[in-house]
Amino acid sequence: MSAFAQQLICWHKQHGRHGLPWQGSRDPYAVWLSEIMLQQTQVSSVIPYYRRFLGSFPDIAALAAAEGDEVLAHWSGLGYYSRARNLHRAAQIMAEQHAGEFPREFEHIQALPGIGRSTAAAISAFAFGARRAILDGNVKRVLARYLAVAGYPGEKKVEDLLWRHAEALLPENGIEIYTQALMDLGATLCKRGKPECASCPVSADCIARQQGRQGVFPQPRPRKSLPEKATTMLLFMRQGEIFLEKRPPAGIWGGLWSFPESDGTEDAQRQGEMRFGFESGPPEPAPVMRHVFTHFRLHIQPLLINVRRIRPGARQQDGVWLTVDDAMEVAIPTPVRKLLAGLGRPERKGLS
Ligand code: ADE
Repeated sequence: MSAFAQQLICWHKQHGRHGLPWQGSRDPYAVWLSEIMLQQTQVSSVIPYYRRFLGSFPDIAALAAAEGDEVLAHWSGLGYYSRARNLHRAAQIMAEQHAGEFPREFEHIQALPGIGRSTAAAISAFAFGARRAILDGNVKRVLARYLAVAGYPGEKKVEDLLWRHAEALLPENGIEIYTQALMDLGATLCKRGKPECASCPVSADCIARQQGRQGVFPQPRPRKSLPEKATTMLLFMRQGEIFLEKRPPAGIWGGLWSFPESDGTEDAQRQGEMRFGFESGPPEPAPVMRHVFTHFRLHIQPLLINVRRIRPGARQQDGVWLTVDDAMEVAIPTPVRKLLAGLGRPERKGLS
């Protein structure tokens, strides 16, 4: 066994993370769910979502049979909602094409929506004990340092090299503990900002450490400044309720409930009237919010608008009036959740 694997496995006994709700389960459905939730999201944020999701959708059949809206509502606040849509679609594929079973074969796992090579490997290792290498963002950082791999790991050539290293380091036995240990090392010690090399089980052979160049690896993404976008969110309020609209299925926040948006502040009143038949008072601007996506930054100007009257017979298309408490229970993007939380505070007079 590589010294790397041996040291990691030994370290994990004492210092790895134990007792997480998905550990100890070999149910591929539960393992899959945890791995999808843990993509780009920290363990502490995932735990309550994981429990709630499994409580409502305990198996593939339950998830496949669920309404898309219901699945999204269980993801509300976790971000990266395509993960929830892919999970739902994948469950339906399993119901239709795999006799309702989670596939065991690596190629079939990887062919499911939302499952890339590293996630397929993690599921195969944890659920089936398969000897497969993982390479998520944390592991890329660990290996780039340990082996002083130059270049940005998002680049194909560098990533291919890291995959070869990841495979070469695999132990013959104990793949589950090794995989968990590697994840834990990246999350708890070999951190991006301040790696805790003094406590690291593999620091003696870590080339970056030997050279005092931990900060150089992995090479960061070549800097392109994120494009800036702006939108205005119209917070129509009436008799203790707010108005939410269902977003189109594709694009950002696809299928989630959100406030109607407009390009500018001038004609918010008129837009409410034209689009929904709302007769309203003057819009009151609230502080601008910033929300960062992977590919752009969004500046949100919220406008609070009191609706005095709804024109009889006006079409509200895909819209609903909800109390703030009820709105918090449906699938809403994080900035909408924050705005609603602000509305729920007693010092805001618009709603209670
Ligand atoms: N990140 C991705 N998968 C994980 C796991 N199984 N445990 C902890 N963190 C993870």
